This record gives sequence, structure tokens and C-alpha cells, in this order.
Amino acid sequence: MKLCAGDLLGPFRLVSKLGEGGFAEVWKAERPEEAGVFEALKVATDPELARQLRTEEKLRRRLVHPNIVRLLGENLESTPPFLRMEFVEGKSLELLLAERGPLPVGEALGLAEGIARALSYAHGQQVVHADVKPGNVLIGKDGIAKLTDFGLGQVTRDLARSIVHSMTAMSDERSRAIAGTLDYMSPEQREGKELDGRADLYALGKVLYRMLTGRLPTGLRLPSEALPGVPPQVDGLVARLLEARDDRTPSAERFLEELAAVRAALARPSRSTQPSTRTLALLLVGGLGALVVAAPWERGALGVASAPRLVWLVAGAAMLALVLRTLRPLPSDGGPRRPQR
Ligand SMILES: Nc1ncnc2c1ncn2[C@@H]1O[C@H](COP(=O)(O)OP(=O)(O)OP(=O)(O)O)[C@@H](O)[C@H]1O
Ligand SMILES: [Mg+2]
Repeated sequence: MKLCAGDLLGPFRLVSKLGEGGFAEVWKAERPEEAGVFEALKVATDPELARQLRTEEKLRRRLVHPNIVRLLGENLESTPPFLRMEFVEGKSLELLLAERGPLPVGEALGLAEGIARALSYAHGQQVVHADVKPGNVLIGKDGIAKLTDFGLGQVTRDLARSIVHSMTAMSDERSRAIAGTLDYMSPEQREGKELDGRADLYALGKVLYRMLTGRLPTGLRLPSEALPGVPPQVDGLVARLLEARDDRTPSAERFLEELAAVRAALARPSRSTQPSTRTLALLLVGGLGALVVAAPWERGALGVASAPRLVWLVAGAAMLALVLRTLRPLPSDGGPRRPQR
């Protein structure tokens, strides 16, 4: 069934199409009597797949969190069936990355924090997202990341299988959405194993890698190898998310703790760029001493004719040593391990 702007769907009038995914179209909609109050409707385009909206609805109804797109209700008996959700004015992370490429480290970490907060809350409710990817992260005008489409990983995996086993024609959007899901899927999810929250953390690792570098990891590369300049502490954070399940960052809370530590380390001037109080005191005393000894009005009194040049030479060498010390690269904080595939 082809939907068009202006069509009525239950009590809603479709305003514009926001996007299309693996099994549904998302429309901006309003009630004619409440023009300007928008909701997003997720409309099942394939009746066979409508049951999935039920799955999603069951899972998401209990999830209320500032970093999760709020489910407002559903109309599963209508033709076609649809879910009502909070309309997020902004864009998906997928679109943001397509437009801007790699994001500044601080911005990428801020968005990862929002996603991790959503995951921490959902995992606490025994809900695994199973389809964390940039297309499922919406960024509002306030810059806050909101995760959507809880519980669809299973659906997308089933769909991916059905593509292989049947000749079902898929729209470009639909195949892109499914390919997108597979790109971020953990090894255990690809193998069809029982999932826990760590599968979402793996996907978050890939999302963070992409935010930092503008691309997905290939082979065992660290973000800084794909885009020089990513700090080693951030490399480590990503690498621990991409480990095999048993070695991976075990929970969203742990990730948030690690993230806070990395941010604090990045905010702190490193030891190598901050001269110690002792060095400063030594420099001050040395400088003053040099002035006293070298000052022209002292030369005659002290009777050390060759002192000024020598003293200034020593003071100069001390300054040079300090500058070299300041320019030395940061220590790597233990150094990250390489991401596992
Ligand atoms: N609540 C919402 N508010 C505003 N825009 C939305 C909302 N939900 C989805 N969208 C837009 O619709 C697009 C399509 O969403 P949809 O979830 O159908 O596709 P997808 O995430 O690319 O694939 P998948 O079917 O795997 O979820 C999103 O990328 C986003 O731009
Ligand atoms: Mg989606």
C-alpha cells in the first residue's frame, strides 16, 4: 500500500515521510484538529511484518528515558498498522555522519554517553536493543542523542535470512537498512547466539569508531590508525568495546565510568606539558641568580668579568630543556589493545 502526504491514517494526517527502514516507513503526522502538534508514525509497509510492531511495542512501552524515543501508543488493528512515537525534530546520526564525516572527539564522546545511558537504563529493564546503529540514533535540535527501535534486531536478522532464502524484491532503502544493521552486529548476534547487553556495547563500539573516524573499522585497526589525532585513551575505550564477548566492557555502567575517566584525563593538562612546581621554583631561583650575577652594575663589584656570558648560557640551556620537556608526547596510559572483529 503506497502512502502519500495528506493521506489519513486513523485519526492522523500524514504530513511528510521522514524515512524508510527494513520493514516500515516513518511519517511525520498530526491530528487535523491539532495542527502543528506532530508525532512520528512508524507504519508497517509489509503486512507480514506487522507483527514485529507488536514485538517492538511490547518492549518499548516500558521504556521511559530522556535518551530513548518515547513510544506514545499504537494502532495495530488499523490497515496498515502503526506505532505512534515522539517526533524528534532533528536528524539521525546516520545522516549527520553522512553530512559531516568524522565528529570532534568531545562531540562523539557526548553522543556515545547519551546512547550508553539509554542502554544502561534498558538493560536494567532486561531489554536488549539488538539493533544499535546510527540510523537508530536520533539527534534533536538540542544535540541530545535518543535511541529508537528497541527490540528490532531479531526482526532484521529474520529479514536478512529471508533475503537470502527468497527472491523477495527489496527497495533500496530497505536493503540499506538491513545492511546497516549487519555492519554493527556483534559476532555472537551474527552467529545467532543468545544475546545479552554486551551485544549492544559491541555495536556502540562500532558506532563510536564511526563517529570518530567517519568510517567503520576494517581489520584490527584502532580509530587513531584510521584518523591520526584520536587520543590513545579514546582508542582504548573503543577497543575494549570491540573485544570478543568475554573480554568486552561488561556493562553500559562500566563504559560510562571509563568514559568519565577518559574525559577527565583529556581535560587535565598532562604531566609532560605541565612543568612541576619544583621546576618552576628552580627556574625562578636560577633566573634571579643569573640576573644578580650577570647584571652590569654587579660586574665590577664581583670582579667576575667572564661570568655574564656563561651564566646566560646556563640559563638559556635550562630554558631549552624546559621547552623540550613540554613538547614531549603524552604517555599512552597503558595503551589500547587492538579491536577484535
Ligand atoms: N521518532 C522519530 N522522529 C523523527 N524522525 C524519525 C523518528 N523515527 C525515525 N525517524 C526517521 O526515519 C528514518 C527511518 O527510520 P527507520 O527506523 O524506519 O529506519 P532505519 O533505522 O534506517 O532502519 P531499521 O528498519 O533497521 O530501523 C530514521 O533514520 C529517521 O531519520
Ligand atoms: Mg530504525
